[in-house]
Amino acid sequence: MHQGLYVVHIAAEMAPVAKVGGLGDVVAGLGKALQRRGHLVEIILPKYDCMQYDRVRDLRALDTVVESYFDGKLYKNKIWIGTVEGLPVHFIEPQHPSKFFWRGQFYGEKDDFKRFSYFSRAALELLLQSGKKPDIIHCHDWQTAFVAPLYWDLYAPKGLDSARICFTCHNFEYQGTSSASDLGSCGLDVNQLNRPDRMQDHSSGDRINPVKGAIIFSNIVTTVSPTYAQEVRTSEGGKGLHSTLNSNSKKFIGILNGIDTDSWNPATDPFLKAQFNAKDLQGKEENKYALRKQLGLSSAESRRPLVGCITRLVPQKGVHLIRHAIYRTLELGGQFVLLGSSPVPHIQREFEGIEQQFKSHDHVRLLLKYDEALSHSIYAASDMFIIPSIFEPCGLTQMIAMRYGSIPIARKTGGLNDSVFDIDDDTIPTQFQNGFTFQTADEQGLNYALERALNHYKKDEEKWMRLMEKVMSIDFSWASSATQYEELYTRSVARARASPNRT
Ligand code: ADP
Ligand code: GLC
Repeated sequence: MHQGLYVVHIAAEMAPVAKVGGLGDVVAGLGKALQRRGHLVEIILPKYDCMQYDRVRDLRALDTVVESYFDGKLYKNKIWIGTVEGLPVHFIEPQHPSKFFWRGQFYGEKDDFKRFSYFSRAALELLLQSGKKPDIIHCHDWQTAFVAPLYWDLYAPKGLDSARICFTCHNFEYQGTSSASDLGSCGLDVNQLNRPDRMQDHSSGDRINPVKGAIIFSNIVTTVSPTYAQEVRTSEGGKGLHSTLNSNSKKFIGILNGIDTDSWNPATDPFLKAQFNAKDLQGKEENKYALRKQLGLSSAESRRPLVGCITRLVPQKGVHLIRHAIYRTLELGGQFVLLGSSPVPHIQREFEGIEQQFKSHDHVRLLLKYDEALSHSIYAASDMFIIPSIFEPCGLTQMIAMRYGSIPIARKTGGLNDSVFDIDDDTIPTQFQNGFTFQTADEQGLNYALERALNHYKKDEEKWMRLMEKVMSIDFSWASSATQYEELYTRSVARARASPNRT
């Protein structure tokens, strides 16, 4: 008999097969960490056409199909299973004429609400029809937030009643609101749910909010850092959900994400020109040289500092400050490499302009695309890494950067505030100091941190080396955060078993 918990994650992303941003990293990283702690972990994902199929092992279709309800009809779903990063994954392929996951992209379709409410229902149907009895169903972000009300309103009464529901919101900016009538497609009862104390959005009596529904209907609600959990409880930070969060505060907590230290390991990383570790930094030099060569940047001075930035180019990330950092770094005698792309057309255009401007420049390169291999090379090659976010629920890039000996320059917000601690701040114990931070989201604020970083780098090579060694040794693994999730799960399951009639 299995001793641990049986945990099923239902999500729209999982690294490396279907990743847009940090959500994908978290589903894989947390899943692996829980598995390592002896729990039975499974993942359910949509079967996207644009997945990285070469990263799925033993992919095969099951003989049985699962039928699920949508818009008044039953549709067949082909179910595929495979292994990703050692985790068993079920992929759902709807046999629906709209070809929901056959669009060449993960998100950004006009019918995203339909695509993911369909998926949420089909995932629960898969659990029900295959007789699975998870202890925890863990859903993530608005795309699978529907799972919480669907579970309690429709699936617990049908007998899928062993589970507790955990919902993690990775970013309260994306709430998936839609007009109330759209909710009925997946079988939820609009009349019951379009109420201010249920799924009705604060903006209008005719809009429903899946994230609000998940907060209300889940047993456990988490977000991805303690500071962000505080920020979203305020009217400025909560994007309309602060009062819902405050009235559900007993079940709401912020847990800092970890990173997958197997995938992000400079000592074994197959994408690198040369592997390295905290005790042997020679390889880092070689990566810097190789990246400069690959991108056509000048290698004339090995000690010219290289500043990296890898990000989705969206307002949250402080795009105007990123732009400013490019020019300011150049003025201060550094090099800058940006890897990023934008779903926002005017931002993408603006950065294409800057990319052109620096096309054959000796010290600046912009790469406006998504490229996993290149991201590893940039983390490894850069001396510093900039994250000037306006808000940041957790942020993984500062942790990855540190693991590769690149010193973060970050704005003190959300998870950045919980993981980057200023080297010049005497109130912070020396052993925790690991980067350069600034408070105000403007050019002066950024200059303050960037200039100090470059000065430190230039002034004392030996000290900088010790700083690199220190940040590379910080434990950003999932170990301690996975333990916190495990405790939440265990307590919730125990509460349910103690009083089985309570939801
Ligand atoms: P968010 O989820 O808000 O985008 P995170 O910092 O949590 O931010 O996670 C971003 C993840 O996506 C990191 O693993 C980062 O390396 C990766 N990433 C972002 N942009 C790109 C890109 N253009 N190419 C490759 N990887 C990227
Ligand atoms: C979201 C947030 C980011 C976080 C990631 C993983 O995309 O924007 O801050 O690190 O989710 O939780």
